Amino acid sequence: MLKGRHLIDPMDFTLEEIEEILELGKDISKDPEKFTHLCDGKILATLFYEPSTRTRFSFEAAMLRLGGRVIGFSEPNSSSTAKGESIADTIRTISCYADIAAMRHPKEGSSKIASLYSTIPVINAGDGGHQHPTQTLTDLLTIKSIKGNLNNNIIGVCGDLKFGRTVHSLIKAMSRYDNNKFILISPKELKVPDYITKEVLMKKNIEFLEVEKLEEVIEKLDILYMTRVQRERFFNEEEYIRLKDSYILDKGKMSLAKEDIMVLHPLPRVNEIDYEVDEDKRACYFKQAKYGMYVRMALISKLLGVK
Ligand code: CP
Repeated sequence: MLKGRHLIDPMDFTLEEIEEILELGKDISKDPEKFTHLCDGKILATLFYEPSTRTRFSFEAAMLRLGGRVIGFSEPNSSSTAKGESIADTIRTISCYADIAAMRHPKEGSSKIASLYSTIPVINAGDGGHQHPTQTLTDLLTIKSIKGNLNNNIIGVCGDLKFGRTVHSLIKAMSRYDNNKFILISPKELKVPDYITKEVLMKKNIEFLEVEKLEEVIEKLDILYMTRVQRERFFNEEEYIRLKDSYILDKGKMSLAKEDIMVLHPLPRVNEIDYEVDEDKRACYFKQAKYGMYVRMALISKLLGVK
């Protein structure tokens, strides 16, 4: 039963519950017009303490396309946060006005705190360098819709694996499906945190390899998940500048990849995928952005319990 639940971490839902959301997302993607009154009279609050294009707009578009309405802020200084109001008091107040809330915050654990004080479902739309579960639902729906299933893949994740919250959530989620293997491609300074390698991959005996060069492994991959270097999480600008162009996927590297590789990227991109790759039929990142809206339509409907 998903009605009334929060989504803070990809592991909050069972595989069956995720399947329920993906199946509805798939149905919506095939015929979105059929769902235009599902959330009539409902209100979504978007509380964004950090910049966003895809997550906020896709949440808002999702609710509007379901017939609901949206309130919120994209700039915390326009709310009473600027006067020192706590997350707990903000979400208690928002619970009086809205039926469901999506929240992005630069501090790890913020959505969890909000969920403890909320009387409406809280969705984590990204908490610092920690988790981004609705990006993961997006990724799962994209892979399932294009590849047909979520098992038996060699998944390369490339770029900033230390601060990239989308990668942490994706590894957790894809580890739950059968026979997926990971190749973790990053500079040594931006390796995936130990809690992911030890607590997720090693604990479940999942095969993984950590390497520094994309061109040495690209030919093996069924899925390549590119990420940008997360400038906003660095303490030292010089370090960011030194590492920011560690990987640039271009036509040359794509020529080494499988005919049916899927290239994903949560976006925004900076330099890590050359624009020339966009024309390649294996580049799926803008389709992925669209699936993000459909899966959020499904998620909102399920958490509100509307049918
Ligand atoms: N993928 C993603 O989270 O993008 P935004 O930062 O634009 O929301």
